[in-house]
Amino acid sequence: METDVELRDVTKKFETVTAVDDVSFEVRKGEFFSLLGPSGCGKTTTLRMIAGFEEPTVGEIYVAGQPMRGVPAFKRPTNLVFQSLALFPHLDVFGNIAFALRIKKLPEAEIRKRVGDTLAVVELVGLERRKIRQLSGGQQQRVAIARALVNEPKVLLLDEPLGPLDLKLRIEMQKQLKRIQHEVKTTFIYVTHDQNEAMMMSDTIAVMNYGRIEQIGTPEEIYENPLTSFVARFVGQSNMIEGEYSDGFVVAQGLNIMVPVQQQLKSEVTLFVKSEKIAIARRLEQLDNIFETEVNEVRYNGPYTEYRVVLNRFFLNIVTPNLKGKEIFKVSDKVLVGWNKEDCIVMSKD
Ligand SMILES: Nc1ncnc2c1ncn2[C@@H]1O[C@H](COP(=O)(O)OP(=O)(O)OP(=O)(O)O)[C@@H](O)[C@H]1O
Ligand SMILES: [Mg+2]
Repeated sequence: METDVELRDVTKKFETVTAVDDVSFEVRKGEFFSLLGPSGCGKTTTLRMIAGFEEPTVGEIYVAGQPMRGVPAFKRPTNLVFQSLALFPHLDVFGNIAFALRIKKLPEAEIRKRVGDTLAVVELVGLERRKIRQLSGGQQQRVAIARALVNEPKVLLLDEPLGPLDLKLRIEMQKQLKRIQHEVKTTFIYVTHDQNEAMMMSDTIAVMNYGRIEQIGTPEEIYENPLTSFVARFVGQSNMIEGEYSDGFVVAQGLNIMVPVQQQLKSEVTLFVKSEKIAIARRLEQLDNIFETEVNEVRYNGPYTEYRVVLNRFFLNIVTPNLKGKEIFKVSDKVLVGWNKEDCIVMSKD
């Protein structure tokens, strides 16, 4: 597959702050690529460098094979959708989307055609004459995307565009964005601090922390096989247990936990087990690790129940689907909890 965007050893310093620290990645043509990481990790700065609003202090950015150094934002084949959306409140929907085409002095007939086609893609046909303040959050967000798409950029850059929306609308817009991307086949680089959002939409996720890339992979790779303790902590909901490794076991607070045999481990390790990989029941068999315990907290939330149980001196969080006929336990119920060694991720303590 053709590479559409490439960052090679890119660093960005603002005086004393290193916002982006030696970052390299490639985005393929037509890919939905996400930058995922906590606040301040350098996502926006990375996006702004690709868009041409900042130049790297060190390193090179290529878009469609061309080096971008010195190329101003408006001459790049990219378009950025800002977190704030930055729509023009005095223009209607049509005026907002047509704005850039009018600046380019395209013939009015072509403007009408392109705005009309884009309105269809974002499903806003019929709202052309509405003012921005007469739109819902999700509709405004689609106007912002339409305004970028109408320029037919090679690469669409989106900086947390769903930020202000409530959860239900966010999920709806995630589906819409994915559909739009499928339809227009444009390369998307999407910035978010929300791991669910990144997983729902992306072909590839780059996890960032302190200006660096921690891991790049498919959503499943990032979720199931985190390579650093940061990724293990940041993605999914994991239990963290500190202990000593030897010979396929981690000993922690008097418990012996069977884990995969690993050669390179130091003796001091952190073990991660995702909450949904742990079974909880009155009776359990055929799991590598089974412990007797007592329910300490119950949080029922419809499709799932979250439990907290005490094992010796630490707590385990367990998320379990409320399948038909399955018992929902109460505080103080005596239960067994268990999981397989393959569901343990063990890393040397850093
Ligand atoms: N113009 C600037 N001058 C000085 N420091 C900056 C500038 N822009 C960003 N920074 C710093 O660089 C770091 C990365 O900022 P950036 O905006 O890229 O983070 P982010 O991952 O987008 O965070 P958020 O999720 O909060 O939007 C932060 O420490 C920030 O304070
Ligand atoms: Mg940001």
